[in-house]
Amino acid sequence: MLYRSPLLNVMTAAAQKAARGLIRDFGELEHLQVSRKGPADFVSKADRKAERVIKAELKKARPAYGLLMEEGGSEPGTDISNRWIVDPLDGTTNFLHGIPHFAISIALERDRDLFAGVVYSPIQDEMYVAEKGQGAYLNGRRLRVSGRRRVDDALFATGIPFHGLPDHDRFQRQLGAVMAVSAGVRRFGSAALDLAYVAAGRYDGYWENGLSPWDVAAGIVLVREAGGFVADLAGGRGMLEGAGILAANTELFQPLAKLIQGASPGG
Ligand code: IPD
Ligand code: CA
Ligand code: CA
Repeated sequence: MLYRSPLLNVMTAAAQKAARGLIRDFGELEHLQVSRKGPADFVSKADRKAERVIKAELKKARPAYGLLMEEGGSEPGTDISNRWIVDPLDGTTNFLHGIPHFAISIALERDRDLFAGVVYSPIQDEMYVAEKGQGAYLNGRRLRVSGRRRVDDALFATGIPFHGLPDHDRFQRQLGAVMAVSAGVRRFGSAALDLAYVAAGRYDGYWENGLSPWDVAAGIVLVREAGGFVADLAGGRGMLEGAGILAANTELFQPLAKLIQGASPGG
């Protein structure tokens, strides 16, 4: 690996340790169709177990840092400058359905700025890491966002809202606008990996409404360090406050933002 700091070592070690349990549990799932409570209960246990492992590792290495975790909520630390933001299993629906596209996402926020991010896809064994000012890497290889300049050549990713979530009509307008002019739109089911794929130049851009800080914090660092742009859907900095997210290479960021904003007037 070209760049690996003590901080990134802590984060990748925590992700790898939790991944071992997730891989075991993912392999067990196929035997669970007959169990009493069913696979959904099993998956939520796997999810909480992974979070406990990550928390223990991060606490051991940096005892004073605060935490914001999807399952366990917020825990302030004595060091008020540093806070971990963790999604132990991003892509839960995929996991539950036996689809091997899910990830562990760990970010470090320092002085209210996103400072480092790790996204690990256990089944593919793809470890994405980035630290502010040091570039983004996939399994040691430096990442760069794609160089595509034309919307009609571009492949975009998104997240489709499901039952219980708002914005179904707004999403359909956004999708209509993007699918009509692009080379395609994908919905793979893990926001953390969607952002990692933008950083790796696999997708040319990505947008999604809503979302929580743990879905996007690590991925934002990856995209920025790979030379891409990230903003909320209105072009502001509210990506961790539920204002949606839009990420792309520098050439396609404005064209994609225009399509999305034109399809969702008023935000
Ligand atoms: C979900 C995934 C998905 C996104 C959802 C998120 P989870 O996270 O990131 O891609 O569309 O809205 O909630 O629930 O699997 O951790
Ligand atoms: Ca998530
Ligand atoms: Ca999750």
